[in-house]
Amino acid sequence: MSWIAQLSITFDPARPRYRQLTDALIGAITTGRLQPGDRLPGSRQLALQLGVSRNTATAAYQDLEAEGWVTRTVGAGTRVNHKLPPAPPGPTPREGRSPPRRPPAAGFRVLARGDQSPHAGLPPGATTLRWDFGVPDVRLAPTDALARALRRALRTKAELVLQYQRGSDMVTPPLPRALSRMLGTRRGMAAEPADILVTEGSQMALYLAGQALLAPGDTVVVEHPGYPGAWQVWESLGARIVSVPVDEGGLVVDDLADRLARGLRPRAVFVTPHHQFPTTVVLQADRRLRLLQLAQEHRFAIIEDDYDHEFHFDARPIPPLAALDDGGVVVYVGSLSKIVAPGLRAGYLVGPRDFIAAAAARSEVIRLQGNALMDRALAELFEDGEIQRHWRRGVKIYRRRRDHLAGLLRRRLGDALSFRVPEGGLALWARVHPSVDLTRWADRARDRGLVFRTGDVFYRAGTPPPCVRLGFARLGEDELSRAVDLLQAALP
Ligand SMILES: Cc1ncc(COP(=O)(O)O)c(C=O)c1O
Repeated sequence: MSWIAQLSITFDPARPRYRQLTDALIGAITTGRLQPGDRLPGSRQLALQLGVSRNTATAAYQDLEAEGWVTRTVGAGTRVNHKLPPAPPGPTPREGRSPPRRPPAAGFRVLARGDQSPHAGLPPGATTLRWDFGVPDVRLAPTDALARALRRALRTKAELVLQYQRGSDMVTPPLPRALSRMLGTRRGMAAEPADILVTEGSQMALYLAGQALLAPGDTVVVEHPGYPGAWQVWESLGARIVSVPVDEGGLVVDDLADRLARGLRPRAVFVTPHHQFPTTVVLQADRRLRLLQLAQEHRFAIIEDDYDHEFHFDARPIPPLAALDDGGVVVYVGSLSKIVAPGLRAGYLVGPRDFIAAAAARSEVIRLQGNALMDRALAELFEDGEIQRHWRRGVKIYRRRRDHLAGLLRRRLGDALSFRVPEGGLALWARVHPSVDLTRWADRARDRGLVFRTGDVFYRAGTPPPCVRLGFARLGEDELSRAVDLLQAALP
């Protein structure tokens, strides 16, 4: 009671008074100024003391009672709930009650699985230009058509797209149907809707594939150099990673065959055969067939990441390994990130039906269901040809940007960089001449307002050769010219 007698509150006009009073009293309880069983004054007395209306004091007591901080009985008045544990001795009690400071570390054990995020992105800096690893120009995305499709889905299918979709309510959702048709006509793949699982981007598809395939200690073969975002998935599932080199014909499948002959028993081989990440090379036809044979012989899965399939510039895109798979060994990962926009988080997994069922079950554990609204809108964009028109336009624009960048680099930086013009994909892979200090180059470029990351992140072991992966799709031709100006100016 003695502490209460001294209580005075400076009220903040922005918050209800009764709640500020409630919080002040909770603060007094949690910091030990009021102990379990202590008696509080009647609401009239408290109101008088604090210069507030009686309603305010009563409302505060009602909240305190509803939240279990006090008990109120006729006769015994209002008391701090005697069942509350005594407040632990703590720092000097605070006046009023502000939320506790958030401690920087968890008060329990945290399992850190996998390394730091390889998706950290470009380092910050006072930049004018940032050079990515190969992302689309979302300024070109069909946003008006998408907005119309989303609106239509909300207006005409609200119940379907906004409700939980469980068990018998489920109908074959439209996006797998649209993808099935697209994969059949554009990629030569026979995939029924039931063979397709829609995911939030291909990164999630990789994770679910790993979940359905890998037990701790299993081996996954990866390309080297390769895609760190996939390595992180395999590592987070406790798999052991074995690197097989890549040359100008893609994964060196003979090297893999040797290792298999010497007893290597992988559960999966992860490849980016269309435009190898990061080198952009295409996996040669003989190697494709050999890899498929090896998978059947040794019963491992080929995880085929076809992340930017559509963007092949000088010929038609090459059909995926999945289109040749008659042994049920290929798990195919596709994405709408490059063809439409990464922020939509739309990707998919295609594979043997038992495998897709296993992956779908794991998907339900973490997200119950997909984003029916976005999926329906995207299906509509496929069905009415919007996405196809968009990618035809994208191919033309990105081809020009690729040629523009390649021409500039040859003319302006031909002594420092050697590269082959990529047949497809959204980035150019270049070796840096050994006489150039690449780290210094990147630092000096950043000082001038251009941020780029060096290619060592794509190597797991050994001394990485100096190299860079320069995306050309997100930047317009003028921006690419400016970026090359800055690169040239920064050359050490
Ligand atoms: C080779 C490769 N695979 C997968 C991804 C993940 O893409 P998303 O999850 O956006 O589909 C990326 C992203 O850049 C990539 O480069």
